[in-house]
Amino acid sequence: MKRTIMDYDLNNKKVIIRVDFNVPIKDKKILDDNRIVMALDTINYAINHNAKVILLSHLGRIKTIEDKQNNSLILVKDRLSELLNRDVLFINETRGKALEDAVSNMKAKDIILVENTRFEDLNGKLESSNDDTLARYWANLGDIFINDAFATSHRSHASNVGIASILPNGIGFLVKDELDKLNILSEPKRPYTIILGGAKVSDKINVISSLAKKADYILIGGGMAYTFLKALNNNIGASIIDNESIDFCKEMLSKYKDKIILPKDSITSKSLNGNSVCKLNEDFEDDDIGYDIGLKTIDEFKSIIDKSNTVFWNGPLGYFEIEKYSNGTKKILDILSKTDKTVIIGGGDTASAAINFGYKKSFTHISTGGGASLELLEGKELPGIKIISDK
Ligand code: 3PG
Repeated sequence: MKRTIMDYDLNNKKVIIRVDFNVPIKDKKILDDNRIVMALDTINYAINHNAKVILLSHLGRIKTIEDKQNNSLILVKDRLSELLNRDVLFINETRGKALEDAVSNMKAKDIILVENTRFEDLNGKLESSNDDTLARYWANLGDIFINDAFATSHRSHASNVGIASILPNGIGFLVKDELDKLNILSEPKRPYTIILGGAKVSDKINVISSLAKKADYILIGGGMAYTFLKALNNNIGASIIDNESIDFCKEMLSKYKDKIILPKDSITSKSLNGNSVCKLNEDFEDDDIGYDIGLKTIDEFKSIIDKSNTVFWNGPLGYFEIEKYSNGTKKILDILSKTDKTVIIGGGDTASAAINFGYKKSFTHISTGGGASLELLEGKELPGIKIISDK
């Protein structure tokens, strides 16, 4: 068992908490603040135990000066301060005198949010490659390190693995909850059904191969379904296709032909904004593009969900950001919300869809992690968790 924040006396200690505030932002607005909300328990616990809290997070991927201009954590600071109902001091640098002075002037219950840790990637990927000097610099600012960034735990960064290898450490409440809930899937109550969607097969080859061994049924939707359908020689019209993954799909379909369920029909259109029609696979014309699963597919997915006891879902089933292609994802969310089965939603787009369509409290668990939850389910050890000391 991993040490947690509760294993430490935090009184007057400088506690560095690595959070994942990598939230979607558009036109200077946070589109989904779930990752900030989910980090509040650990931050509040630290404050209630008189800690001085130093928060570190990345936001986006930083390769150019322009990325830096577009990915400041300042907006996150405002939202965090609102949610906590207290001041948060934002330091607009990742190292330097302003940061050092602010840290040495901290009093118990103060909170500092440091600027995007990946700004350090502009000078040679120092954060993303877990640069030792950078990790030591940040570790020197604190007394204790807490990893509460589950969604970043599959990365080996200076701000997680690096600091944890230097300071006394533990996990926060968000990480503890993620590990407890995702662990249910290591011995799922059967039948165990996996729903997979999203655009590309190639992003999920490892997870598909590994989950296919464990699951009783695999329901495939979203853009990736068309590569599987093509592997069976269907005419998929002009739908998205991942040509490099066709052989992989053929292999999966021959190994697991009774487990893998593909769409029978789709909501199609000639273009994103054109008229949409529900079409059976065999009726696809060469210029049809599939944007969502169709009504017969929803019925078939429902019949399998009805006989399952555990469901894990990663990846939306259609282009859900557009209302007319969101029906498949919404209907399956609705069906799952009305069961008392164990339902775990993998992070990223599926989590955003579940929360935005009003299902935040309807499931056993909605993970904050995208890649991290998939790697954990593949059976990989996450470096950000592995480095944390056992009790
Ligand atoms: C995520 O959103 O999955 C995490 O914040 C990790 O981000 P990354 O894929 O850019 O490393």
